[in-house]
Amino acid sequence: MSNKSGMGNLPWYKEAIIYEVHVRGFYDSNGDGVGDFQGLTQKLPYLAELGVTALWLLPFYPSPLKDEGYDVADYKDVHPSYGSLDDFKEFLKTAHGLGLRVITELVLNHTSVRHQWFQRSRTAKPGTKWREFYVWSDTPDRYRGVRVIFSDFEKSNWAWDPVANAYYWHRFFSHQPDLNLDSQDVQEALLDVVDFWFGLGVDGMRLDAVPYLFEREGTPCENLPETHEFLKKLRLHVDDKFKDKMLLAEADQLPPEEVAYFGSGNECNMAFQFPLTLSLFEALELEDGSVIRSVYEETPPIPKTCQWATFLRNHDQLSLEMVPEEQRDRMYLAYAKDENCRLNRGIRRRLAPLLGNDRSKIELMNFLLFTLPGTPVLYYGDEIGMGDNCRLPDRGGVRTPMQWSSGLNAGFSVANPSRLYLPVISDPPYDCRTVNALSQRHDESSLFEWTRRLIGTASRLPVLRTGRFQFLEQPNTRVLSFIRYSRSELVVAMASLSHRPEEVRVALDNHKGAIRTEISRGITLEALGRRSLGLSLGPHAYALYSMARKPGPSSRPHGTSIPTRRRHPPQARQQEEERS
Ligand code: BGC
Ligand code: MG
Repeated sequence: MSNKSGMGNLPWYKEAIIYEVHVRGFYDSNGDGVGDFQGLTQKLPYLAELGVTALWLLPFYPSPLKDEGYDVADYKDVHPSYGSLDDFKEFLKTAHGLGLRVITELVLNHTSVRHQWFQRSRTAKPGTKWREFYVWSDTPDRYRGVRVIFSDFEKSNWAWDPVANAYYWHRFFSHQPDLNLDSQDVQEALLDVVDFWFGLGVDGMRLDAVPYLFEREGTPCENLPETHEFLKKLRLHVDDKFKDKMLLAEADQLPPEEVAYFGSGNECNMAFQFPLTLSLFEALELEDGSVIRSVYEETPPIPKTCQWATFLRNHDQLSLEMVPEEQRDRMYLAYAKDENCRLNRGIRRRLAPLLGNDRSKIELMNFLLFTLPGTPVLYYGDEIGMGDNCRLPDRGGVRTPMQWSSGLNAGFSVANPSRLYLPVISDPPYDCRTVNALSQRHDESSLFEWTRRLIGTASRLPVLRTGRFQFLEQPNTRVLSFIRYSRSELVVAMASLSHRPEEVRVALDNHKGAIRTEISRGITLEALGRRSLGLSLGPHAYALYSMARKPGPSSRPHGTSIPTRRRHPPQARQQEEERS
């Protein structure tokens, strides 16, 4: 693959469109009821057709699979049900051949109790190298007050090990002991894992649970300076040895702490923008665009070479972790009236059911995902509007088999249905007779085809990924309006969060020539003046207009007529890159 994106000199991840996929859940090539690498490889043309440019794979390493593989038992191999390391290499080669980058998981914070490291540690004498691999204590009283993340499953961050005769620290399940990153041996062992996968040709790694790497008494044991020191070391190591690799932080934190994972451009290249996800769902519920605006106001600028990874849904619950209780309750009422759908201060639902299977809301949310700053991350199955099953344990309900056709097991596997790793969604309207990839690929009006067009539009307009960003002022807060622009390009995005018709007029004086509608639903351009657009918007309507910018000395869309609430919104400054 070429090192850089086709045009200009931008790192690949700044213009990527990422698809999150689980090997286990995508396609079963050998009929054992479990998806595998050969199956995923067979289905790569489908992903290329959809138009995504990078795949992020959930953990596929040997593991007891008590946390879907985030409980790693061996970092340098493939889980036997998913195939072999050779199958992985074949997959990687085929993906690269189709122009798809591959991002894998780096679980730094913990291992499975089954990992050899833990087995050695629990029998090693205190003070020895192996004992120091994990965080042991004689009492469960250390690091008091540190929150328990999997609050529906665990009462404490300490668990007693009768073999070691001591307590070990775990931020997640008790079968996932935290590694002791204070040990140089642990750090080296992890760098060795990084070398292994990047050495094989993997393009990026997602740093799972990155805020929790170190523990210090009297702190919340999150986002500690030691963690940032380690990340700088990791980044230096990667940049020294490899070219063009990407590190992606998973840190569900408030904006300032989240931004810290970029360092000054010397820690992670990307980070998930958790607060944005939540604000999109809140804004839709409250029919108020200012909820989204405040995220940008609270978010400090990010370094030039960095990029947000933005998403609507993923393999976890929609996190309500960082919000006050009152706000959490409001979200539960709006999006998870059924208590079965709530989990660990979050909502375990896929996109379509979260939005009541309302096509216009699904389009609107995806439209925002693709037009706001950042690199969008899609979750497998959401491109066809798959449903979920809140009666399956933990987060299993959003991790069911991909629905390929209306045939046996939704075309995912030829195994007997009882042998599937999880049952296929069978309740209407999300059952595979109604929701499957095959029928949608032959239907111009399907969600798959719409998503493909959206991705196509986004790929034609790189200004959406790398252009600057500014909200347009107009008094109707039920409509979100903003521009993305570079020296030569300008796009205007309009999105109505309202369930009723709305009218807006936005001022715009820095364009030249014709205005082109790139993608839209339910919007009529009522008036196109030299200096303004007048629009009438149906419920949840959206549109993206593109035009050329008037040449001028300034690279900001000058125009007194496009004032912002704050003169220099952080995101406008942070999106400095422009292709010339
Ligand atoms: C992953 C979860 C996982 C947890 C513990 C995360 O944040 O996204 O799926 O359970 O880390 O590894
Ligand atoms: Mg299989």
